[in-house]
Amino acid sequence: MYYPDELIEEVRARNDIVDVVSGYVRLQKKGASYFGLCPFHNEKSPSFSVSPTKQMYYCFGCGAGGNVFTFLMNYENDTFPEAVKVLADRAGIKLPEIEYSQEMKKTESKKAVLLEINKEAAKYFYYQLRAPQGKTGYRYMTERQLTDETMKKFGIGYSNKFSDDLVKYLKQKGYSDELIVQAGLGIFDEKRGTHDKFWNRVMFPIQDINHRVIAFGGRVMGEGEPKYLNSPETMIFDKSRNLYGLNFARSSRRENIILCEGYMDVISMHQAGFTQAVASLGTAFTAGQANLLRRFTDTVILSYDSDGAGVKAALRAIGILREVGLTGKVLNLEPYKDPDEFIKNKGAEAFQERLDRAENSFFFEIRMLERDFDTKDPEEKTKFHREIAKKLCAFSEEVERENYIEAVADKYHIGFESLRSMVNSYAAKTGLAQPLQRPKSGIQKKNTPQDSIKRSQRLLLTWLAEEPQLYPKIEKYISAEDFTEELYQKVAGHLLEGLKSGVCEPASIVSLFEDEEEQREVAGLFNTKLIEMENEQAKEKAFHDVLLAVKKNSYEYHMQQLSGDVNALKLAVEGKKALEELSKTHISLK
Ligand code: GTP
Ligand code: MN
Repeated sequence: MYYPDELIEEVRARNDIVDVVSGYVRLQKKGASYFGLCPFHNEKSPSFSVSPTKQMYYCFGCGAGGNVFTFLMNYENDTFPEAVKVLADRAGIKLPEIEYSQEMKKTESKKAVLLEINKEAAKYFYYQLRAPQGKTGYRYMTERQLTDETMKKFGIGYSNKFSDDLVKYLKQKGYSDELIVQAGLGIFDEKRGTHDKFWNRVMFPIQDINHRVIAFGGRVMGEGEPKYLNSPETMIFDKSRNLYGLNFARSSRRENIILCEGYMDVISMHQAGFTQAVASLGTAFTAGQANLLRRFTDTVILSYDSDGAGVKAALRAIGILREVGLTGKVLNLEPYKDPDEFIKNKGAEAFQERLDRAENSFFFEIRMLERDFDTKDPEEKTKFHREIAKKLCAFSEEVERENYIEAVADKYHIGFESLRSMVNSYAAKTGLAQPLQRPKSGIQKKNTPQDSIKRSQRLLLTWLAEEPQLYPKIEKYISAEDFTEELYQKVAGHLLEGLKSGVCEPASIVSLFEDEEEQREVAGLFNTKLIEMENEQAKEKAFHDVLLAVKKNSYEYHMQQLSGDVNALKLAVEGKKALEELSKTHISLK
């Protein structure tokens, strides 16, 4: 954690969750909570709830849940420190400078200066494009059908004809030659000294996911070599870990991300409403970029040129996506070369239709493979089928592999059983995948006793969070050790400690966990659906049952742990006594 817990807690407490979530979701009050359509999955009737008392949200449909921090982290894809920052600003709380080691401080402040320089340059180029000397640049962009609004959104600029004006401008702002070169904006040689890297080009600022300008791409206006000039890699620009347009695409809230090759393609798509488009930065798609995308989506639609090089790049990208567990699809824009051209000629609606028909990446691979064989010839055809079988071996999950065998067999008119046995024999030979087994019966597993005891523990936590006044009545029966799931125990420890001193802040407990999955689970613990009881008596009985179930399990659990553990023995003895007493005790909920 970067900030002290108390500060994080202050930031959380000063941002009411209903206010924050209302900025994104239309909420309606229903009883003690607010309800709305869940922003984390598609639904038609509201199952997303926000509780002002618990200061938490929870979706009964998809299980998304947490506090104000996790909400921003999930909705805006912020990291935890980013969410803290946003909410601190919102509440007018000043955050302390982060403590760095001497070495880190140096690097960080260097990076900060390089970012500053790039930002200054972006402003400079932006101004130039809109000044009289930028007319050619402005006209070029207008001819390529960009609106003023789009140019503004992407910060399009112009580097004018002089090859030293930016350097002069930056030096006058106080930056040294060395820094300007390190920022990627200046080039040094003996003859000319430090001069501009970019001149007489339209400029595309490249931003990281937090909208900070980290580099530029510059295009010649019309014909000329090189068509695009890009900033070199610098301390703040790693081509393999950034994607053009991702700063906008990250919050597009679409089911997919479209990955293409060109800056202009991204801009065209955004202008046409496809705000989920991104591009790699003039280099091949990398695993680092795939991992970055995985933070925001599970499906990537590839839009590469349909020529030889484009197909090769797409095939490579498919492999990379698969490796990080992303679903790949391939967009076919024929007869057009790229999204920019397609949209110009056919419009947004037609583009959407093509998106809807994007091809499963495995079928794309097979289709490309087919080109290498003359399938009229039986021998070649057999070879083709063998290659298919080899590729099918790569699916390690049985169900998935079976599904693909079926689909491919169907599509290419191969007998299902024969393709399957071919896959089996390759799998056995190469050990790439497990030999296939008959599909197991599809009967769902019943709830295990383990599930039901977990549920009792969750119910008790939720109940206490919602009705903290109950705690004094059961205080002597219950302790954190009674929650036998590791995570539950930690959470119970925090909750009970708070209740003991009269405070109940379940939302603050969420922030104590760093892992996103854990945060979600913790939120779930406080949002187990309590069954509506018709009368007070039934409710009392339900509460008693839950308490008893938790206690009983705790006793049994600690009995099992007994072997030699003195502490467990003590807990077991105490537990037995408490259990006996509890089963005879009436606890009123009033
Ligand atoms: P327009 O011709 O302006 O529509 O650009 P485009 O994006 O359609 O061009 P293309 O498909 O040729 O290139 C795709 C991407 O590759 C560009 O956005 C650049 O990032 C990169 N690229 C293209 N040409 C060059 C070049 O000459 N040098 C470098 N370094 N990168 C290039
Ligand atoms: Mn193009």
